[in-house]
Amino acid sequence: ADGRGVYVKCIGCHGVDGSKHALNVSPPIKGQSAGELERKLFGYLDGSFGGDKKIVMTNVLKKLSEEDIREVSKYVSEF
Ligand code: HEM
Repeated sequence: ADGRGVYVKCIGCHGVDGSKHALNVSPPIKGQSAGELERKLFGYLDGSFGGDKKIVMTNVLKKLSEEDIREVSKYVSEF
């Protein structure tokens, strides 16, 4: 699992460079550190993070491994 391959699943909502406001609500994910991204992504899974549309993210993340989440966080942090 490489971050670039995992990120293909995210492009439609977050944009190729992470600058879009997904479904008009998410802040851009571009510019966030790997640690911050991991905290948010694992937070969607354990219920400790998320807004009104968190179900959208929870459903995406349920299909990923923990390694996928770490790799995609690192990839996005380098945009
Ligand atoms: C929020 C990453 C796929 C829609 C977020 C956030 C991150 C993220 C880090 C939190 C942003 C913040 O609050 O600072 C990713 C990654 C994806 C992915 C890495 C692929 C593995 C998608 C897809 C959709 C989507 C496919 C649309 C179907 C959203 C929405 C939010 C969000 C609506 C805000 C949810 C809320 O209310 O908390 N995403 N995303 N994301 N993402 Fe994604």
